[in-house]
Order: sequence, then structure tokens, then C-alpha cells
Amino acid sequence: MPQDIYDKIMMVAKRRGFIYPSFEIYGGIAGFYDYGPLGSQLKNNIENLWRSFYLLKDNCVEIITPTITLYEVLKASGHVEEFTDLTVDCSRCKRSYKVEDIIENGVSVEQAVKENQIICPTCKAELHDAHPVNLMFSTTIGIGEGRKAFLRPETAQGIFTNFHLLYQYGRKRLPFGVVQIGRGYRNEISPRQGTLRQREFSMAEAEVFFDPKDKTHPFFDLIKEKELFLYDNEKELKVSVADAVKKKIINNQALAYYMYLTQEFLFTAGVDPKKFRFRKHAANELAHYAAECWDAELYSERFGWVECVGIADRSAYDLNAHIESSGVDMYALRAFEQPREVVTKKVIPKMNVLGPRFGGKAGKIKEQLEQMDAATVKKITVTIDGESIDIPKECYEIVDIKEKQTGEKFVPHVIEPSYGIDRILYFLLEHNYVEEKKKEDEYTILKLNPKVAPIKAGVFPLIGDENLIKIAKILDRDLRKAGISTFYDESGTIGRRYARMDEIGTPFCITIDHDSLNDNQVTVRNRDTTKQERIKIQDIIPYMKEKISL
Ligand code: GLY
Repeated sequence: MPQDIYDKIMMVAKRRGFIYPSFEIYGGIAGFYDYGPLGSQLKNNIENLWRSFYLLKDNCVEIITPTITLYEVLKASGHVEEFTDLTVDCSRCKRSYKVEDIIENGVSVEQAVKENQIICPTCKAELHDAHPVNLMFSTTIGIGEGRKAFLRPETAQGIFTNFHLLYQYGRKRLPFGVVQIGRGYRNEISPRQGTLRQREFSMAEAEVFFDPKDKTHPFFDLIKEKELFLYDNEKELKVSVADAVKKKIINNQALAYYMYLTQEFLFTAGVDPKKFRFRKHAANELAHYAAECWDAELYSERFGWVECVGIADRSAYDLNAHIESSGVDMYALRAFEQPREVVTKKVIPKMNVLGPRFGGKAGKIKEQLEQMDAATVKKITVTIDGESIDIPKECYEIVDIKEKQTGEKFVPHVIEPSYGIDRILYFLLEHNYVEEKKKEDEYTILKLNPKVAPIKAGVFPLIGDENLIKIAKILDRDLRKAGISTFYDESGTIGRRYARMDEIGTPFCITIDHDSLNDNQVTVRNRDTTKQERIKIQDIIPYMKEKISL
């Protein structure tokens, strides 16, 4: 079978240490991949470039939360009921499939199910009884009965469940963005898109909280004239960010701002703008929490358009769900122009009753009661160290308290850009993979952007002369000490050494030759232009830093 670009890239990726199929010595399993030395470095560089956009440019903060997530969290968020794929099982060949993956092009899932048009791709049996299957991996925390939990399907819930603490941290100002980069898990039914559909994968997510009455972004003016690459209602459309909002193609400034940030990030990382578009979700595609969603899609020669980033307006869905389910006050405050006197309801714990009745747990119960939103309290149940405890009415009072209020409470809305890092990594390989013929030999160059390239410079003594080797080794060590990754190589012809670096995307090669001994200069060869320039050894580090800075 002739190889397509996916096969070629995966072959180079394996041979040169970017991506390995996991557990291959035991036969491997679909949906799991390892990153080798170069893949790990490339992934770290993509994530750090992403951080430079979200933490520095956009001023968000980063947190880290567990990948194992309590059942209660994902029950409240709707994932226990809604995080499903419509599935069919083949009773003849005993395989299961996601309906969407095996129906004919141009046929909708609804139509295929209604008209019995689902055929087993393996044994050609007609398949019936499509049913939803939950995609979360479940587990138990602790032994015995333990507590039910899941491997998280998204990092977002770790941010929502901390909102009240983060809001305090952010001095109660909105908009306020919190990001998390980490592993997510989906027990895909029959992953058939190689590295593009993994069961354990890396996500970079931002949850940016807004006042629903003010979904504007403080930096909007800086980008409003920039062009967005949209695809809506089967039509391509290039339109300024400001016009997209004005014409209501995109519902609000905040969503449009993060779409542009995403586009800029992807182009900076090295995505080919000709193979990029934003596509709007149709109403029947929206996730259970989303009011509006645009996917940043990248084009692959084998797989067509593939979603790599989803930018959703989650409205107040998640915070409302956690307020209702945990009883914790996760509201934000909108300042009044003048303070007002209002009556609010508060839960006041009675320690003289809680103490004797609950002993050592009374302190923790008191803390939880004080955080409760008294306006919504009917019957109180708290969870202390996994134990669910009903709190009888005599343990607390609900009292009306008159107080001067400086503002009113509301549930913030959330704009969520959610990036699939592994997919972006694959597309950087595909979009920058170039084949050339050199003297009848196939020659491949990975034109990775220097900002994300795993190795920034090859360092070579021209020949195996001791004096050249000595200078090359010192320069190699100095570059690495300055935070610039290098590969030192003294074996083979200089052409072979260039070729090895070109194949893994190294943007610069630095050669030390006999002239270097006299003029203290080295030759820097640019991968993409193959142009060579002489640069003073003492200027090499600033030169490289300028080329690779994020
Ligand atoms: N947090 C977005 C997603 O799970 O796709």
C-alpha cells in the first residue's frame, strides 16, 4: 500500500524519537501513545508557548488539580448522564462502534439510526439498537466500598470546583481567567484515527469568568481589526474580529477575543493558515454545557478537517450546577454605584449543639455551614471525609441579617478555550513536513518554528581536529547552560549532519572550522533558507535567544 503523509510522519516520528505506540512489546493498544525524547521536548515547548499566550499576554493564572475526580463533581457537571457516544454492538463479530464513525458520508446519525443504515465495517452485518455509552473511565478511591470516582474527562472541573477560592485570589475582579494543562481521559469506543484520537491525552484549558452583563474583553481593542478565518453555514468567510461581533456571527466580544487568541497561537506555533478554519457547532452538536461553540479545525491529508481546539461559551452552566449540588456560595459580586441596605439570609451554626453531637467533626461542619448559600438551603447534608451527614435543624439557625451591601450577587459566565495538545503536536509535524529530492535521494525537512523545535541548534566541529572539537564542546555546553537545547555531532560528513538535523526540525546548525581558530567566528546555517552566515562566538547566545524567544 503506498504510504500517505500520516504513515510517513509516524515512521519518522518513531525512528527519530518523537512518538512511539504505547506498550508495543505486548502488542500495543489503540488510543495510547508515548512521547520519546524529541516528542516530549516538542510537547513541552508547545505548552510553554501556550502559557506565554495565556499567562503573560492574557494575564490568566495557572492551577493544577487531580486527574482522579470524585463522582459527585462529574454527576453535578452533567458528565455522568451526558458524556456519552451513541454506540452499536455487532453480535456477529462482537465489536462495538461509535455510530458517527461508521455511517456513510452525508448521512446524519439520526437518519442512519431511523432507516437502519448502520453496517458493521468488519463483517458487514446490519447493526441495530444504537445506545449511549458513557466515555469516562471509572475507578474507586480507597479499598472496600471506597468512593466512586472517574479519571477526568476535562481539566475544567478542577477549576470550577475552586472558583470561590480563585475569585478571592483574583481580588474579586472579573474578567478573571484560570488555566490548567494536564491529562484528560476518554474511553473511546473504537479509536481509529491514530494519534488524533487518544484515550489518554493532554489538554490545555482556560476558563475565563465574565459578568454576564459585560462580556467584553479589556484587550479587545488591540485585536479588533485582525482577521478571523471562519467557516459558517458551509461558507468560508474572512472577517475582522469587530465585524464578526457586530454582525452577530459570533455572539459576544469575549468569545471572539479568545477565538483570535487561539488563531494567533496556532499560527505562531506553526500551523499552516491555508489549512486552518473556525467552524461553528450546529445546535445538535453542542456539548451539554455549551451555549455556543466554535472549533478550530486543522486540515490533514488523511483525516480531513479535525477539531483541535473548542472555544465554548459555557454560560453559567457549571457554576450553577456546583452551587446547587454542593450548596457552596460560588457567586461573584457586582458593585452598586451606592451601597444599599438589604436583608440577607445566613446559616448560623450552633456550636453548643454541633459540638456534643458531632464531636471532632463539628469544626469542619461549621466551616461548611458558614459557606452555604442560605437562600437556597432546604435540607442540609454535608460531606466530611467522604461521609455524608444530615444536619438536623436544631444545629443551625437561618437568620435574616440587615447589612449594607456594596453589590449584588450573580453567577459568572465562562468562556472556555480548550486545546487538544496532542492533536496540535501532530499537525505541527504534518503541516511542516517537506519532502525534497537531493541528488535523487528523498530528503525530508521538518520546518518547525524555532520557538517550538525540540532542538534549537546542531553544534558541529567541521572535522575531527582536537582544537575544533574543544571549541565546539565549549560552545555546545554554553548554549545549553543558557537554556538553548543543542545536539552535538562530530560523526559523518557535514551534509549528513545537516540532514539529520533537518529531519527532526532543528532550525540552526553551527559549525566550527579552521577559520574559527583565528577569527573567533562560526558558521550558522539556517535550515529553511540553507543560507550561511558568519557570527562571532560571543554573539551566538544572544543571536539564538532572539530567534527562539516566545
Ligand atoms: N472542556 C472541554 C471538553 O471537554 O471538550
